[in-house]
Amino acid sequence: MFSLELSEMHEMIRQTARDFAQNDVAPSSVERDKEGIFPTEIVKKLGELGFLGMMVEPEWGGAGMDALSYVIAMEEISAVDASVGVVMSVNNSLVNWGLQTYGTDAQKERWLKPLAAGEIHGAFCLSEPEAGSDATQQHTTAERGEGGWILNGTKNWITNGTTASTYLVMAQTDRDLKHKGITCFIIPRDTPGFEPGLKEDKLGIRSSDTCSIGLTNVFVPDDQVLGQVGQGFKIAMESLNGGRIGIAAQALGIAKGAFEAALRYSTERTAFGKPISNLQAIQMKLADMATRLEAARMLVYRAAWMKDQHQNYIKAAAQAKLMASQAAVHIALEAIQVHGGYGYVREYLVERYLRDAKITEIYEGTSEIQHIVIARELLKEIGA
Ligand code: CAA
Repeated sequence: MFSLELSEMHEMIRQTARDFAQNDVAPSSVERDKEGIFPTEIVKKLGELGFLGMMVEPEWGGAGMDALSYVIAMEEISAVDASVGVVMSVNNSLVNWGLQTYGTDAQKERWLKPLAAGEIHGAFCLSEPEAGSDATQQHTTAERGEGGWILNGTKNWITNGTTASTYLVMAQTDRDLKHKGITCFIIPRDTPGFEPGLKEDKLGIRSSDTCSIGLTNVFVPDDQVLGQVGQGFKIAMESLNGGRIGIAAQALGIAKGAFEAALRYSTERTAFGKPISNLQAIQMKLADMATRLEAARMLVYRAAWMKDQHQNYIKAAAQAKLMASQAAVHIALEAIQVHGGYGYVREYLVERYLRDAKITEIYEGTSEIQHIVIARELLKEIGA
């Protein structure tokens, strides 16, 4: 049974993340969003604080914390800047997790240690121009060469794509085996033929970098295969189960930031001779926003707790992401409404919450995919 007990350590992590977000992240967030500037210095500091390798064992350079600590830190940082949140989420959930779970000791020493210590950050390359939700349809191929594999293809929508140093790349090693013929490769950025494209010009999370990556005759030696040949799709799906908790926490942070902005503004703005927080129309909105926010928080913390308890968290992660991303979009919209015209202009910041929230309903599995995952798990539970 889910029991939520936050320890002193969790509260300390919350405070550290909150202070970091206010002092180091907030001052440059407007400019970075406007100009699409990657938060290089902030990511360096994230690494120094241990936030890029939160759940990695200390022997591999990480902070050795639990998933609950991770979602708390993600929530606080994303409440101030969701672009910084996604850099952190991809590194922790989609890159470090796979390396820690499936890597050999030699791979962990070489690839995981610097990623977990935050000296560098990584990217996860599953999506392709024609393989988004339908992720088994990998067109990137890996053909056998001497002592390794030769990869060709294109990856799409790669978060951290232009700035990462280490990439986990899924490619088809045996088409006849369908998803059981997909393999995961560890590829450093400077590998010949591995070419990150131009940064996408996005609606939201504009300070994070997203790009396509071209692979032309990229040679990857055998010791850079993660897990077994043919195990790549399983690694990707399992990584995404945890990734969905990270994105759910990012959405929770966006919802919290938007709600708190609306609550504060409602006490400052007067209309009809009193603060608008006295108007029932506004109170209804605030009550509804607060309730959705708390519901999302419970699902996100529960999914993290289940992961920490080594329970099956596939459904819980999908439910948390579905609920928190919907809450983020709804609460961000309502925060704009509470601000009226001021909510629609950049100066007041609330419009950014809406732009940032929308992607949480799309990446690491759309809301439609989360419904599929939840329904399949429900049916499995009753043996259907
Ligand atoms: N956890 C573990 N294993 C899973 C799984 C999960 N959540 N979902 C599927 N699998 C396994 C299945 O058990 C099956 O394995 P076996 O054959 O060994 O039994 C295998 O994967 C194939 O599953 P299905 O037969 O169910 O395949 P499908 O094509 O019908 O459905 C899917 C698969 C669930 C739709 C899957 O393709 C999916 O999750 N799609 C969404 C992909 C996604 O989330 N992409 C995000 C891109 S990454 C990103 O956004 C990163 C970023 O940069 C921010």
